[in-house]
Amino acid sequence: MGHRAVANGAPLIMPRPALWKDDPDCGHEVACEFQTHYCTYIRVPRLLTLQRPRADHPAETLAILALQACELWFAVLISDLRAALADLAAGETQTHEPAKLLRRCSSLIKLLDHQTDVAGSILARDAGFRIALRTSAGSALSPQFAELALLTRRLKKRLKDEGEGMNPPASLSLQPFVEAGNEYLSRFSAWRPRYLRLLKETIAPAGPRSRAPAYADFVALPELLSLQNGVKADWSPKGEPPTAIAPAECVSPDELMFIVVHQAFELWFKAILGELDSVIGLLTVATADVLTATRRLGRVVKIQKLLVEQIHIPATMLPLDFLRFRGETKVVDGVTNVRGLSPSSGTESYQFREIEIVAGLKGDAAHAEFLQGSPRLDIRLLTPAQKRRLAQPSLPEAFKHLLERRGVKDVVEIFTAADRHNPHADLAELADVLLEFDEFFRLWRVHHATMVQTMIGEKSGTGFLGPEYLRETAGMGLQGKGRVFPTPQVRPRFFESLWAARTRLGRY
Ligand code: HEM
Repeated sequence: MGHRAVANGAPLIMPRPALWKDDPDCGHEVACEFQTHYCTYIRVPRLLTLQRPRADHPAETLAILALQACELWFAVLISDLRAALADLAAGETQTHEPAKLLRRCSSLIKLLDHQTDVAGSILARDAGFRIALRTSAGSALSPQFAELALLTRRLKKRLKDEGEGMNPPASLSLQPFVEAGNEYLSRFSAWRPRYLRLLKETIAPAGPRSRAPAYADFVALPELLSLQNGVKADWSPKGEPPTAIAPAECVSPDELMFIVVHQAFELWFKAILGELDSVIGLLTVATADVLTATRRLGRVVKIQKLLVEQIHIPATMLPLDFLRFRGETKVVDGVTNVRGLSPSSGTESYQFREIEIVAGLKGDAAHAEFLQGSPRLDIRLLTPAQKRRLAQPSLPEAFKHLLERRGVKDVVEIFTAADRHNPHADLAELADVLLEFDEFFRLWRVHHATMVQTMIGEKSGTGFLGPEYLRETAGMGLQGKGRVFPTPQVRPRFFESLWAARTRLGRY
């Protein structure tokens, strides 16, 4: 059994979370070895081993990540469509469930459309990425996409029958389902050719006897689709620490979506970290390649814009649907047993913390205190990888040193009006993208905080920090109430001097 850490002035020593099967270690410490933990529930360390580029092309990892994100969403779409069609076949038309599932399908196609656009612009147009992949004769590259197209045709037929009154009595309660279904169909038919064009632009189909990797191996499809089993702590009497991890179980369509949305975030976080590392590398060498660095940072901003949209996907389930798997209870011999997500939380995303460090929070006192942890929390967030990153140059540092090397004394000097010759035009363009990066990082926090409020109101968060903490980190005002850390957890902007320069511009 794990033990609870006590604060007695000495550093808190806590056990490592129990690993699931042979998943790699995430580097966290937790109060109780078998508590539900984000990294085992979302299977983050295992997920992040599934990108195995052959180093043929620098953008290969990005391509794998983008295609894996597509495949994860296909899995949710297939599960939702199947569940909606099954509900309907069973005459389940009195509840909101089938229409809810189809509305989610629409939102996911909208997201996939945006994602296809981002992947197309980064891979096909910016990086010029193209790879040969082996296909079996006559079969689609992605078996899941083929399944999705089949289910979509089935839905279309079902809606057509409904319209022609072949399934009488066509009850009024079917109206939301029909409307949601039609919306989904029109979005699907607009997105499908764009997705196929992306595949055509980036993948050269190779014959079945070629030595090129097969699509399924390239994206590690079987392994990718085996990571949604919702590994949680097993039942334990309320208030007592769990003693085991629950075995893999069937998860509901809502929980599948919930796991996948986090996994899709983690894939994109990996892409962002890779690009930020390369930007810092390009800016810190003696012959800095500012142009390439700006283009790479531009890719990050495109991904950030996608993530602002993606953070609203959890709200495609109803708050009470979420509470069902957030905290499960069962009574055995008069004793209430609990199981569920708590105390795991997105706040444990170690890649998110790494991005914060690289982006410029490495010198921030409140953030450092936060990473060290509090006796009131069941987890220590600071990992060895984060410690390594804290010792490396951050993005603002790389930019500052670049300005110094170029002899710029005051950042305002790099800006001119568009019709003036600017010897620092490359720096000015980079600065614009740095500001966008900063802006969208904060916007993500704001959108996440607002989505969280629509889902749980002012309830305590599973990570015990809660909505007030989120409003503080998002810069939505000081909250104070129920604060876990004595210092307000406000996160400064990464490029304060650039924001200040915007105010000073034109003032002579
Ligand atoms: C129903 C959906 C969600 C709810 C209710 C929710 C709730 C919360 C809450 C309450 C916190 C504060 C810590 C705590 O008390 O647990 C938090 C933090 C966080 N969550 Fe979520 N979350 C949701 C979805 C997501 C998703 C999809 C991601 C994507 C990775 C995510 C990433 C994060 C991150 C990175 C933090 C730390 C933010 C910071 O430090 O500024 N969350 N979440």
